[in-house]
Amino acid sequence: MPLMDWDATLDIGVEEMNREHREILAAINAIYDGAHAGQFGEPMIARIARLADITVRHFADEERLMAREGFAQLETHKAIHRKLLTDFSAHQDAIAAMGGVPTNAFFSFLRLWLSAHIKCIDRKYAEHMQAGSAAAGPRISAPAGA
Ligand SMILES: [Fe+2]
Ligand SMILES: [Fe+2]
Repeated sequence: MPLMDWDATLDIGVEEMNREHREILAAINAIYDGAHAGQFGEPMIARIARLADITVRHFADEERLMAREGFAQLETHKAIHRKLLTDFSAHQDAIAAMGGVPTNAFFSFLRLWLSAHIKCIDRKYAEHMQAGSAAAGPRISAPAGA
């Protein structure tokens, strides 16, 4: 049973970011399912490190997109990302110190991050983009990293 399923409330209407959010969700569920299957230690530490890598890359992609779109709250959003990564690292260290056993606090953090950050924080740049494209008419969006 996954920690969280993808549903329409996580859809922010920006396809490239939806794809990355799905990738994060899949990595979180792999950790959760692994823990329920009794996979601890190094394999668990590796799964969590993989989620960290995906997340760092996603935040960088998202920040590039917001900069490209001239999103006014870019710096606030970047600060929230930095705080999430700091908190993630603290959980990662605690889990490593316990020999690769993820805590309930870690899963609560992941669940909150996905639901609150994507639904409330990420949605703001998505709305900015949608308002901009409505004003400008249809346009072709550039690929991430362009
Ligand atoms: Fe974000
Ligand atoms: Fe995001």
